[in-house]
Amino acid sequence: MKLRNLIVVLSLLGLAACSPEADTPRQAARPPAAHTPATAPPGSAPLDRGLEFGRVVTGGRLYRENCAVCHGREAEGDPNWQRRNAQGRFPPPPLNGTAHTWHHSRDVLKGVIRNGTLAQGGGMPAWKQKLSDEEIDAIIDWIISRWPEEIYRTWREANPPK
Ligand code: HEC
Repeated sequence: MKLRNLIVVLSLLGLAACSPEADTPRQAARPPAAHTPATAPPGSAPLDRGLEFGRVVTGGRLYRENCAVCHGREAEGDPNWQRRNAQGRFPPPPLNGTAHTWHHSRDVLKGVIRNGTLAQGGGMPAWKQKLSDEEIDAIIDWIISRWPEEIYRTWREANPPK
């Protein structure tokens, strides 16, 4: 197996890219080239994401009020998100599909947002005292609405609607 393919496979498994403990810089996640044609046949219509417009608007407002200060107004993240800072923590990653948010199920994302990562030595505050589950779900809907089509398709294959 070529090294590049191995990296793609590892990051798909979440082993290389997702561990906050990893000492190596994080891999920027790209949709694996070999995967894209199978998930997005040429000319196919965009998938219906099952998102409700009003909830996405609410989620976007809550995102700007609570999250944009760290993750960026358009969820673009910190440019140095793959490198530990002087305090040994990873800066806020992009949530817009260019990092590895899409490697995680909705339940996992919800858990990170509810509980944060301060207890594990990370830099993400917990939100469960400040935001309700419905508000967090609306923010996740807004985040998902930002992902490019091929990222959403790949995520949906791993996380089919319940
Ligand atoms: C004080 C800065 C800060 C704020 C405010 C903040 N975050 Fe974070 N967030 C971080 C950091 C830093 C990380 C990386 C955590 C780590 O490495 O332990 C992170 C990680 C995440 C992750 C995991 C991303 C991934 O790809 O695995 C999600 C999802 C997330 N944040 C969502 C949110 C949402 C939603 C809000 C608003 C409700 C928010 N964050 C507010 C700093 C912040």
